[in-house]
Amino acid sequence: MAPSIEKERILVVDDAPNTLEVLRRNLTSKGYKVFTAPGVVEAIKILDATPVDLVITDLKMPRVSGLDLVRHVRENLKDTEVMMITGYASVEGAVKAVKTGAEEYLPKPFTDEELFSAVRRALGKLRARRAGQAPLHRVLRNAYGLIGESMEMRKVFESVAKVAPTPTTVLITGESGTGKELVARAIHYNSPRASAPFVPVNCGGIPEQLLESELFGYVKGAFTGATESRAGFFQTADGGTIFLDEISDTSPSMQVKLLRVLQDKEICMVGARRTRKVDVKILAATNKDLLSLVKKGAFREDLFFRLNVITIAIPPLRQRGNDILLFTRHFATKFAEELGKPPPRFSDNALQVLRNYYWPGNVRELENVIQRLVVMTDGERVEVPDMPSLMRFSALRETGLDRTLAEVEAEYIRNVLTSVDGNKTQAAKILGIDRKTLREKLKLQGLE
Ligand SMILES: Nc1ncnc2c1ncn2[C@@H]1O[C@H](COP(=O)(O)OP(=O)(O)OP(=O)(O)O)[C@@H](O)[C@H]1O
Ligand SMILES: [Mg+2]
Repeated sequence: MAPSIEKERILVVDDAPNTLEVLRRNLTSKGYKVFTAPGVVEAIKILDATPVDLVITDLKMPRVSGLDLVRHVRENLKDTEVMMITGYASVEGAVKAVKTGAEEYLPKPFTDEELFSAVRRALGKLRARRAGQAPLHRVLRNAYGLIGESMEMRKVFESVAKVAPTPTTVLITGESGTGKELVARAIHYNSPRASAPFVPVNCGGIPEQLLESELFGYVKGAFTGATESRAGFFQTADGGTIFLDEISDTSPSMQVKLLRVLQDKEICMVGARRTRKVDVKILAATNKDLLSLVKKGAFREDLFFRLNVITIAIPPLRQRGNDILLFTRHFATKFAEELGKPPPRFSDNALQVLRNYYWPGNVRELENVIQRLVVMTDGERVEVPDMPSLMRFSALRETGLDRTLAEVEAEYIRNVLTSVDGNKTQAAKILGIDRKTLREKLKLQGLE
């Protein structure tokens, strides 16, 4: 994985012993480690036995064609480049070679310089590909399994690092889909409590009457049907962390009970006469503005202050700059892998659309959009017209509200044209106008 230190490894395949020898000597003199094989069968044996960065193969060989070797490498060795040597008369062969998956082809006869530069190009592509992939698996996710390099998210990660070792209650705020639960998990799994349970409770999703017995448990005979005692979430989380999600959805009476737990570290099972101690770290989350709920009288002030010892505010996705692109790459790779497809690439304009969209549903929405794109796009490239129309239109947002309609229109037309490689028929279709109108507009705006 460190090509600059380790010698790059090249396998040369040719049935002519002279060519083989010349290539071996030339490439060795440039510092490459060179293997040779007189035919495809021998070449495959070598490839099975040892990793190779670049295969250089002749096209025409007596027994098995070089094309079969190209195909073999492309299908089995993702981390190996292929270069094809072809007779000068066989343009057709060259085209075929490239279509089969050879990165480069070198027509005979070639000079040493032509050989070296083709080799450098092929290995350069390989290095770029490796460099492009490496961060995906290694750097992309940070120590907390979270994605993000923006200043805003760095602050969040710093807060996680600070609160994780402490027993302090933490309130996690953020719009829907910003990753509140993920941050809660990060806090737990980086705390001394990591080996004890993390128990998430969706306070908004459990009916009021049930919530109390779910949280605190009940004793036998507490109500009809309570034939046995049952532990609640707080007991399950003993020694660990409870995550009270959607805390603002709790009723006033539940808020009183939670306040008591926070103050006394004690719970009272439904129907029990005595309280019991629990050792639970409490994390709570809300996507509402709790303080304004407090002011309106919809949330208890004392509970608010108990919860709000430390707040981690997760910024909305639209404020995280290039993190949007990191997420795009991450989710595209993830879903493509699941479907056994190569991850799609996004055109610059498509990325621009993603970056400028408002993302009301934040990371979850982006995740869904990318999943849909990976499923729906057959070509490898995602262009602007592939995106949901809602997003395409919000691409105009970026420039603010200081441009004339003509300017906005001209830019939009330009973007659409770029996205379809200048195909006016397709552009007109996306724009919802006919070709003649498009031509007139282009002329009028001096775009033609
Ligand atoms: N920084 C991140 N890195 C990787 N994945 C993330 C990140 N933030 C969010 N996600 C993903 O986005 C989705 C939503 O995250 P999560 O459920 O934590 O959000 P939430 O704030 O709790 O949402 P809600 O308010 O709707 O409950 C999940 O699939 C999560 O894995
Ligand atoms: Mg959540």
